[in-house]
Amino acid sequence: MSDYTLDTIVGWAKRKGFVYQWSSIYWWLANAWDYWPYWSQLRKNILDARWQFFVQEQANIHWLEGAILMHPKVWEASWHVGGFNDPLVDDKKTGERFRADKLIEDRIEEQRSQRTDKEILDYYATTYQVNNLTPDSWTLEQQHAFLVGEKVKNPKSKKEADWTDVRKFSLMMSTKLWVIDSESNKVWMRPETAQAMFVNFKNVIDTTRAKLPFWLAQVGKAFRNEITPGNFLFRTREFEQMEIQMFLPSELSEEQFTTFQKMSWEFWEKRIGITPEKLRNRDHDDDELAHYCKQARDFEYKFPRGRWELQWIHDRTDFDVKAHQEYSWQNMMYSDPHTGDRFIPHVVELSMGLSRTVVTVMLDAYDEETYTDSNGKEQTRIVVRFHPSVAPVKCAILPLIKKDEKQVEIAHELFAKLTKTMTCEYDEWWAIGKRYRRQDEIGTPYCITIDHQTLDDQTVTIRDRDSMEQKRVALSEITDYIAL
Ligand code: GAP
Repeated sequence: MSDYTLDTIVGWAKRKGFVYQWSSIYWWLANAWDYWPYWSQLRKNILDARWQFFVQEQANIHWLEGAILMHPKVWEASWHVGGFNDPLVDDKKTGERFRADKLIEDRIEEQRSQRTDKEILDYYATTYQVNNLTPDSWTLEQQHAFLVGEKVKNPKSKKEADWTDVRKFSLMMSTKLWVIDSESNKVWMRPETAQAMFVNFKNVIDTTRAKLPFWLAQVGKAFRNEITPGNFLFRTREFEQMEIQMFLPSELSEEQFTTFQKMSWEFWEKRIGITPEKLRNRDHDDDELAHYCKQARDFEYKFPRGRWELQWIHDRTDFDVKAHQEYSWQNMMYSDPHTGDRFIPHVVELSMGLSRTVVTVMLDAYDEETYTDSNGKEQTRIVVRFHPSVAPVKCAILPLIKKDEKQVEIAHELFAKLTKTMTCEYDEWWAIGKRYRRQDEIGTPYCITIDHQTLDDQTVTIRDRDSMEQKRVALSEITDYIAL
């Protein structure tokens, strides 16, 4: 289980071709990123694993691709316009702007190493009249009193701050569409993918003849005007979500809630290999719940800078579909084909941040290891222990001597064969040890070396990334050996 600083991970991710600073040749905006080849492949593999588990292996689920720009009324019905805000505060000394609730969360997290949650809460309850340790549920005045009372410093300058009042700022990003005949032509960039599933659920039922309970799944970009992005890729303005909405004939039962929780654990732990000790569930307190939500259970991961939410399970009741019926004046009721009953379905949501999951998988897999080499010398290596199902490259094909035409020919043939079913890299440059190190650093589970013996007996060596053990395997048996 790795436990490295964020700076270590960021440095490695840039060096190895996972991410890089956004539009970097122009040296502009900090905390925005472009995704490079290994990230793109890792993202695709995680997406495929999610798709396979939650869509392909389930009955009665459909995959949907809604538009990023939806009708502006959608966001009024969903309560995002006017209601989707962050509490922000400025340091008058530097003019910098921060999220007040995050500054407070960071302070609480620091204190957790010395005091229990109960001790921390007892003190804040008497001093600031708050009744929980989730600052985004506190009033703006309580947040301001905390920042001033606890002398919270400006996290950038690390110096004493002069905080303004805490104010609410909308997270919604907008653009213009000239075909819309309204005073501003303004349309919103979706802040979540969920709404496309609510407004389309009835059309999907009508065209696919699905029956309740049934699910809709979607993946796509979402946009939020995050004022203080940072912490690498955990909070960005443009990110991807993978959301699933399950439409139910009646209220969500405790049993269904537990089933979704168990399924989610299986996905995180078994399908993409997240260390279970770093993952935990947390139920939202009543005063933390979103306006549409009856109960919520988070999946949180222990990152180097505290716990962050990766996914949640939300009982959204019938709020969303009802709201769209009211705003659109369309009949959004489901008709039960057996009983003839007509009603608005209830919805339970599994909402996961895809971009945040990719970073989590990277962090969870990164490791630095000391070992003794075959000459008895102590060595260190970076080894990224990706679960084989998500590793960007599944195997590397390495002819030992690049001047040996026969070795190179066999290596090319093997590459052509294996790439029909998996991602491989062909590499003939540098000494074999260096090539192994390079593959360890990008998390390739297997290295296949073609050497002199291959020409004699049609076998290769397969080196295991984690144990570094090497075994001789017949060329004809490679696919079975590395079954992923
Ligand atoms: N439909 C519900 C919804 O959007 P959310 O908690 O706001 O809920 C769901 O977002 C997931 O999206 C989060 O668990 C997180 O993984 C991811 N997410 C949210 N804001 C993000 C941001 N600014 N950058 C990266 N990921 C984000």
